[in-house]
Amino acid sequence: MIVETLSLENWRNVRAAQVEFDPGLTLFTGPNAQGKTNLLEAVFLLATGRSHRTSRPEELVSFEGDHAYLRARIRRPSGGYQLTARIDGGRVTRQREGKLFRRGQDPLGDFAAVLFAPEDLLALKGAPADRRRLLDLDVGQASLSYRQAHVRYGQVLRQRNALLRTYERPPRELLATWDSAWAQAAVALTRERQKLVERLAPHFSARYGEISGVDPASLEYEPSLKASDSAHALELLAERREDELRRRTSLLGPHRDDFKAGVDGRDLRLYGSQGEQRTVLVAFKLAAVSLLGEGSDGPPVLLLDDVLSELDQDRRRNLLLAATGTQTIVTTTESALAGMQPGMTYAVRDGEYVRTW
Ligand SMILES: Nc1ncnc2c1ncn2[C@@H]1O[C@H](COP(=O)(O)OP(=O)(O)OP(=O)(O)O)[C@@H](O)[C@H]1O
Ligand SMILES: [Mg+2]
Repeated sequence: MIVETLSLENWRNVRAAQVEFDPGLTLFTGPNAQGKTNLLEAVFLLATGRSHRTSRPEELVSFEGDHAYLRARIRRPSGGYQLTARIDGGRVTRQREGKLFRRGQDPLGDFAAVLFAPEDLLALKGAPADRRRLLDLDVGQASLSYRQAHVRYGQVLRQRNALLRTYERPPRELLATWDSAWAQAAVALTRERQKLVERLAPHFSARYGEISGVDPASLEYEPSLKASDSAHALELLAERREDELRRRTSLLGPHRDDFKAGVDGRDLRLYGSQGEQRTVLVAFKLAAVSLLGEGSDGPPVLLLDDVLSELDQDRRRNLLLAATGTQTIVTTTESALAGMQPGMTYAVRDGEYVRTW
């Protein structure tokens, strides 16, 4: 699938802009703090309903405006359509051809994008939350039931945590109600994650092998909750009861999951070299592209935010080569990147995008 055009109003530092994209490679260049990342963030929000940088939608609205509006023209093999997003009062609403859909409810493959930013390169050795974010945002687009389970678990967890925070000793019946809601939602999301990682892992191993030449790599899910069903989950929860009451928060469940990337049996979270970390992330993003491209709508849009300058010649070439046939939108502070032949180039200045080629 391809994004043909995008218009932005009151989006971050963009007052009003219209941009057209090449079906192959489009390049955005300019100095720091001009609006390069802001543009990719807009495309990503249209795909996911979320920003990769903030969980507070109000930050996306320009300081001068009271709401932001994005409108894109999407083309799929089965036909084109218009996708819009409005950010107003901390809420994101997206519409397809004027028809509303809610987050976590959008039909699979409406519009998919994989975003690769320099901060992702730190995720492998970062906190588990950083690694979960990679999976949730990029790969989560491959499964509607995953997104639904994710939204549901988030709701239950917030309520349960509020209960634990409010009372030193929560009323027994109230706690039991939220325990069982938690158990159902936690088991459901853990299962969905398991399935998603199992779908992604072969793509990851293949991509890692291609890039590194030989090394066999694996991707494994490390669930916080190792329960076969809700009854079992409640038993495990009961073992943590005193801990939870003391710490006044939920200590078990998918909000504490982690993932492990291994090469030759080594855990790269602990032992990965800089080069291996980069290869893992490139392989992970390309695996997400392959997975999301499995359906009949073709590959997702690949958004590369300033990441090429962080990679050496080999990995850069591998990334762009693997992205052949995938619409790719690249930002960079360098005016030209060796070996790239963009179909369109824009200069970015102060929230304006000027076509230079
Ligand atoms: N809500 C907002 N309203 C107005 N301006 C904003 C808002 N949010 C961010 N900005 C501004 O947008 C500018 C451009 O941000 P962006 O992240 O797109 O820069 P960039 O071109 O990617 O730069 P870099 O090369 O440093 O990554 C920043 O100066 C930032 O202060
Ligand atoms: Mg940037």
